[in-house]
Amino acid sequence: MKIAVLASGRGSNFQKIAEAVKSGKIRAELALLVTDRETAGAINIAREFGINVCLLPFKKFPNRESYDKKIVSILKQEKVSLVCLAGYMRIVSQTFVKSFENRMMNIHPSLLPAFPGLNVHRKVLEYGAKFSGATVHFVDTGVDTGPIIIQATVPVKPQDTPDSLANRILKWEHRIYPQAIKWFVEGRITISGRKVTVNDASYASVPVVPALEDF
Ligand code: GRF
Repeated sequence: MKIAVLASGRGSNFQKIAEAVKSGKIRAELALLVTDRETAGAINIAREFGINVCLLPFKKFPNRESYDKKIVSILKQEKVSLVCLAGYMRIVSQTFVKSFENRMMNIHPSLLPAFPGLNVHRKVLEYGAKFSGATVHFVDTGVDTGPIIIQATVPVKPQDTPDSLANRILKWEHRIYPQAIKWFVEGRITISGRKVTVNDASYASVPVVPALEDF
């Protein structure tokens, strides 16, 4: 199975996925990194791992529709079966979502449906929430609204800053995203409407549900 990652920034989630593929934990081919930013740290990581990079600056396209069409055609040409958004800062168009329905995942650094969108950690702290976390979900046409695959929770501490909270959550992102991808590649994920089930997973563990098995 071929996987593509779309990333705009640092690329630490992309790196963890690449490591899991390289070590053989995820039995798939990481065919491509697609990025909209030439400054993305993910590009250097891709080079280290020998993964092909497709750099597509948005300003070279007239609109979002034509931009996404280009990406979809590249992904189809590469015969990609799973698209993983990992810090991809663009909202994907309906056509893109439909082309990869139930085959596109995203990671978001909150316990969805709480705190979708941007500036998540600042909003969590301002709200006074006592838990936050990370969510891997399938992508639908809304913003951070798709069916949830796996979530991890972390405590919010009184002294937290957006950065300290982000770092605590990121450690869990690095475990739950490769785990979700591995389950997908193994064909263990069932989707029924909004409800996603991982076959033979444990749903009794805290704070990650379903329980981590490999990461
Ligand atoms: C992560 O916190 C992810 O949840 C969010 O953007 C950040 C990307 O970090 N969508 P990185 O580029 O993977 O290091």
